[in-house]
Amino acid sequence: MTTYTFGIRGHLDDHWAAWLGDLRVTRSADGTSTLTGPVRDQAHLHGILGGLRDIGAELCSLNVVEDVAPTLPHPVRTKRLTLRAARPDDADAIWQYRRLPEVGAWLTEIPTDLDAYRATFTDPGRLATTVIVELDGTIIGDFMLRVDDAWAQAEVRDQARGTQAELGSVLDPAFHGHGYATEAMRALLRVCFDDLGVRRVTANAFLANEASCRLMERLGMRREHHAVAESLHRSGAWLDTVDYALLSHEFTHHTKE
Ligand SMILES: CC(C)(COP(=O)(O)OP(=O)(O)OC[C@H]1O[C@@H](n2cnc3c(N)ncnc32)[C@H](O)[C@@H]1OP(=O)(O)O)[C@@H](O)C(=O)NCCC(=O)NCCS
Repeated sequence: MTTYTFGIRGHLDDHWAAWLGDLRVTRSADGTSTLTGPVRDQAHLHGILGGLRDIGAELCSLNVVEDVAPTLPHPVRTKRLTLRAARPDDADAIWQYRRLPEVGAWLTEIPTDLDAYRATFTDPGRLATTVIVELDGTIIGDFMLRVDDAWAQAEVRDQARGTQAELGSVLDPAFHGHGYATEAMRALLRVCFDDLGVRRVTANAFLANEASCRLMERLGMRREHHAVAESLHRSGAWLDTVDYALLSHEFTHHTKE
């Protein structure tokens, strides 16, 4: 099974979307529609192309979506939670809390349009680095686990590949204040150090995002960098940011529990 995207000029309405079965439709502000979905084989592909021709759709692009392996290598169970790799159909549940102003207050974006959010969420690179946090089968958060190369001098660059990871956390506000983010982040630290062989994990926040800073400090992460008036917040204010880090050998019994 290969995932394809079909770019269509104009906005395809829901009537046709229903007819196209597994293909998900996103409508862009530039007046185009994108259909994304699994294609079994060439016969299936030609069937879809024939269907688009029959409904008079004007095809403007056709692409294969490269499958990117999820960074979380396997689902993880903690005392109360399940962590698993994100799937495209998680977008709607996550949008329900991501669109809330209090959730987006410190994040890059506050999504206002579900179609646009689905397109962002299902970008292969983004999907692969998103970890879904579930409580009793309900999605309560989406975290980020991204593995990077550490900076290195040219002669030793190969040895620095994939040695660093960055974590991020977003929890549905209905589930704040119960230690779920702490529990999920601890599990991800364990995955980084024990399964992925990472030597250093980082996380960052606006200094004013007190809940996020408390979370990283609760996990035993060290504040290593405080940049003054470094980032522009949508309020118009230039705000301080802080970077936290933890090395593999510092992930001791104290921080694991
Ligand atoms: C950052 C964020 C995930 C932290 O969520 P959180 O609910 O504060 O963190 P936890 O789920 O770990 O809960 C910890 C809180 O619950 C309390 N708690 C209750 N039971 C607990 C338990 N069993 N274990 C640990 N803490 C517990 C803690 O005392 C703590 O409260 P405090 O911070 O007032 O001291 C959340 O604020 C969020 O999603 N914010 C919006 C998005 C965002 O800004 N993300 C970060 C971008 S950098």
